[in-house]
Amino acid sequence: MSRETINTTNTTKTTKIAKFTLQNVIKVYHSDSVDVSALRGVTCEFYKGEISVIMGPSGCGKTTLLNQLGGIDIPTSGSIFLETNKDITRFTEKEFDEYRKFQVGYLFQTLNLIPHLSAFDNVLLPLKIQKRYTDEKKEEILKQFDRLNISNRLHHYPDQLSGGEQQRVALIRVAVKDPEVLLCDEPTGELDSENKEKILNLITDIHKEHPSMTIIIVTHDPDFKVIADRVFFLRDGKISYILADEKLEEFKTQESNQISSIGLKDSKNSISQKIKSEKIEELEELSYLINKRMKELKEE
Ligand SMILES: Nc1ncnc2c1ncn2[C@@H]1O[C@H](COP(=O)(O)OP(=O)(O)OP(=O)(O)O)[C@@H](O)[C@H]1O
Ligand SMILES: [Mg+2]
Repeated sequence: MSRETINTTNTTKTTKIAKFTLQNVIKVYHSDSVDVSALRGVTCEFYKGEISVIMGPSGCGKTTLLNQLGGIDIPTSGSIFLETNKDITRFTEKEFDEYRKFQVGYLFQTLNLIPHLSAFDNVLLPLKIQKRYTDEKKEEILKQFDRLNISNRLHHYPDQLSGGEQQRVALIRVAVKDPEVLLCDEPTGELDSENKEKILNLITDIHKEHPSMTIIIVTHDPDFKVIADRVFFLRDGKISYILADEKLEEFKTQESNQISSIGLKDSKNSISQKIKSEKIEELEELSYLINKRMKELKEE
């Protein structure tokens, strides 16, 4: 079977191409006396041109999963096929270097800004490495700084920036690379609601401008479901649930009357409270219940 899995769904009639096809990906970290199984057999696909959101409790393996996709780490076993049929777990060092340099933009949870470079120079660095720095790119960078309210921080060093400002600089740095794959680990973890909205809008615009870009976002923030094409719930190193297509649309509009009309015990108030409290496990449970009830109603 070709790894370029073409999945034509009956409902939307759209052709989806798998950018990543993961088969039983396992990651075990070995340290002195204990082994930690961070991924316990992840099998799934991330589609080209989609925004996939990965959610789940702390320690469930979200960053580990992103690291395997970004070529930062290699799984203990299993395969990760790219659209090109190449298994990245078998890349040579040189192939990994090229992959990270040209194909992937990775916004790390720890941001990784270079301390002795200004915010602007941090953004320039990957473009200089790629030999793609032009006047047009400079304009684009200045525009993004302005848009994210940090144009007065261009020449500040990372330790002179707040956590949220560093987060915005780091996002601009990966976005201006125009990568095929954009991986973001907690892109709004440090931000207030106003700036969070700006990041959500920026990611949506990047997606519009680069429709073939595959964007995968790890977050604890349920608001990301609004921009998602697919939401993966991870628990104990495994995908426990995936929301897509109509199920996701239902999930997005779950605060509407629809919920009460399907006879779920939970009222819409308690659903929105749960969303606000960001209790992902409850949210996951709830989406499962909604889905189950929808199925029952369809069968009735
Ligand atoms: N380098 C490592 N060595 C040993 N254990 C590790 C290592 N990196 C991660 N782990 C463990 O693997 C598990 C998954 O970690 P991971 O960072 O992927 O979680 P996460 O879902 O991203 O959590 P959070 O939401 O807190 O960022 C955790 O139990 C963590 O302690
Ligand atoms: Mg993490």
